[in-house]
Amino acid sequence: MNKKIVIAIDGPAGAGKTTVAKELAKKMDIPYFSTGSMYRALALKCIQLGLDATNEKDANLIANNTTVGIKYENGKQYVLLDGENVTELLYTDQISAGASQISVHKIIREKMVEIQRHVAQNQSVIMDGRDIGSVVLPMADFKFYLDADVKVRAKRRFDELKSKGNNISFEEVLKDMKERDIRDKSREISPLVICDDAIVIDSTNLSIDGVLNEFFKHIGEKK
Ligand code: DC
Repeated sequence: MNKKIVIAIDGPAGAGKTTVAKELAKKMDIPYFSTGSMYRALALKCIQLGLDATNEKDANLIANNTTVGIKYENGKQYVLLDGENVTELLYTDQISAGASQISVHKIIREKMVEIQRHVAQNQSVIMDGRDIGSVVLPMADFKFYLDADVKVRAKRRFDELKSKGNNISFEEVLKDMKERDIRDKSREISPLVICDDAIVIDSTNLSIDGVLNEFFKHIGEKK
């Protein structure tokens, strides 16, 4: 693809953003950037240092003493926390909750958004998160909001965790997801919202291919 194209995908946890974004990135041959992975890396550091992600002072300490970098190898995104590759450590329930907690703080968001904007400045990218269309890349060529029923989202996450050998119950996953939804949607700074110019897709009753078709209907139309 020659023309620069920037695609923003927002939505709640478990709606399928990552799966769809990775497939789109492969098919369109442009990089995929997960902004959630950056907040996850900060949550990991918080846990490692025994700090409290909900505490403003602790968040300031992390923000001022941490570097989060992203590198690509063979099309895969790796997250570097203070120079160390931590990608494989970021997808646990504890880190999901911690990322949602640490991401409410102003200083944390400002630092991460600056890096995210820089990435999209000179190249095509598919970026997913909670505030991509509203704050990070308001001028994106396409803004999508991917949603799904919370029980379906929790079931997807539950199946994923179970396949990794985690024996958390469905009820726990559902409870965590509802809490995360509330925090991500009601925080003061950059809450998850549906932008007026976003294309809303509901993946509740769609397969991955079905969701991809919906995306391509729009990307194809405007290209
Ligand atoms: O997309 P994810 O599940 O990896 O994100 C983890 C948490 O990080 C999410 O619950 C809220 C936060 N987040 C955010 O506040 N803004 C973003 N752009 C991406 C993630």
